[in-house]
Amino acid sequence: MQAPQHEWWRGAVIYQVYPRSFQDSDGDGIGDLRGIISRLDYLNDGDPDAPSSRSLGVDAIWLSPIFPSPMRDFGYDVSDYCDIDPTFGTLQDFDALLAAAHERGIRVLIDFVLNHTSDQHPWFQASRSSRSDPRRDWYIWRAPAPDGGPPDAMQAVFGGSAWQLDPATGEYYLHSFLPEQPDLNWQNAGVVAAMTSALRFWLRRGVDGVRLDAVPKLVKHLAVADDGVVDASRSLAGTGRVDPAVLDHLQPIRAVLDEFPGAVALAEAFAPPQELARLYGDDRRPGVHLAFDFQFIRVTSKTPLAPWDARHIAEALEASAEHLPAGALASYAFSNHDVPRFGSRHDHDGRGAARVRAAVLLQLALRGVPCIYYGDELGLVDAAVPESARLDAAGRDAVRTPMPWDDSSGRGFTSGTPWLPAPEAGTSAAVQRDDPRSTFSLYRDALRIRRAQPSLRRGLQHLVGARDGVLVVQRAAEDAPAVVVAVNTSTEVRVVDVPSEARRILLTSDPDITLDISGEASRLVLPPLAACWLA
Ligand code: NOJ
Repeated sequence: MQAPQHEWWRGAVIYQVYPRSFQDSDGDGIGDLRGIISRLDYLNDGDPDAPSSRSLGVDAIWLSPIFPSPMRDFGYDVSDYCDIDPTFGTLQDFDALLAAAHERGIRVLIDFVLNHTSDQHPWFQASRSSRSDPRRDWYIWRAPAPDGGPPDAMQAVFGGSAWQLDPATGEYYLHSFLPEQPDLNWQNAGVVAAMTSALRFWLRRGVDGVRLDAVPKLVKHLAVADDGVVDASRSLAGTGRVDPAVLDHLQPIRAVLDEFPGAVALAEAFAPPQELARLYGDDRRPGVHLAFDFQFIRVTSKTPLAPWDARHIAEALEASAEHLPAGALASYAFSNHDVPRFGSRHDHDGRGAARVRAAVLLQLALRGVPCIYYGDELGLVDAAVPESARLDAAGRDAVRTPMPWDDSSGRGFTSGTPWLPAPEAGTSAAVQRDDPRSTFSLYRDALRIRRAQPSLRRGLQHLVGARDGVLVVQRAAEDAPAVVVAVNTSTEVRVVDVPSEARRILLTSDPDITLDISGEASRLVLPPLAACWLA
């Protein structure tokens, strides 16, 4: 069955652009919207199936925040929801980006930061100005504890108390992240009206959807609740729980999205599938269309990084299949701007590059919406950022460095001095695009095959097995040949029998993979850490 047109995101592949680091067009060393426009053909030139095309072939881009911001959290501290930060350009540049992307068939998702604003946002400036200001209740204020300290022991995600004393009015405000990111009060109707109207502003301009930042945080679990009762068990911070009440907050957002056919909401939540499920709601009260499933990174901000291991992957897929509502899809990210890159996370034995190639075939074969982090298509690893050049309060600079387009001094990213050091000369998009054995070419080939194979885009998923470090998963759409993905996560050669419909190799991460179909079963020989697609 084809997905309805407005559900374009089923079967799509998203690419995350970190705007500061993608392409600078004006030489200030910081990426911008005009820069992104100049690189759109790299992502999708509008005809990525043409034999001459050298495009990656993604369907949509998600832009990390581009709104005016003091940049304490590099854009996740918004001081105006309806404009563009001058570092990135203007609203006209944004319109031009949207038009240029749409011309090529690329949809555009923006990052909508719901939970908090910048402390420089006029709403917060008003709120902090006096206890009786009409905007006071737009944020979350509490009296000090009897000893003058914070109202409770709640911790911010980035460490330290989640409460900041504001001497002007003698009360504490809540900040789930940095003190410069005060939490909005989503119980306040004025907040809901202002945020939904900002959302409508962008949807009217033509954006195709939003990534919703830190969604579970919208429900506060304050140890000192509105009723004055002190109860530390009410604090769910960092536990990976999603309070069912979050669906109440998603209702007005979903209602606005529904005014714009095809507009999609992709929620960010570090939580296991049984908790993520709540974000989708149900037919009566739908929530988001998609949520990130971070089981291949880490389930919550406090749990260990996920291993690259067939058993773990199988359990993650089973958990997702068991708990997500029927028909719901998750978005699978293997890297993003908050965590070490996949190639660094799995390089303890120096064999990260092989795992990266295998992971391409897994990520692009799973039932769900893959989200590729810029530079992952080149197999980038975390950059070495010297102490003196570090900028991010939460230590994420190494995964946010400029895109290495070529081997020139600014790596083709900038003619100026890059805001973070560009990765040392080594790999680049220019070199990899011309090398049929590169990670870029593997991604491009995988995306091309994915477009041609209905089973990969919209097939059901069946876990065939996960033994001795080898994962075998089948995707099958009713009216199309099934596709099998086999991934050897072990460092030994493995020989596995795969479903007998699998008669030929579609794509491999390693040239030494062989398939023997002379016997009753198809027998696959997988070198260490190798993966392939079969049909
Ligand atoms: C999640 C974002 O991905 C991260 O970069 C940011 O620091 C926090 N939310 C706060 O907005």
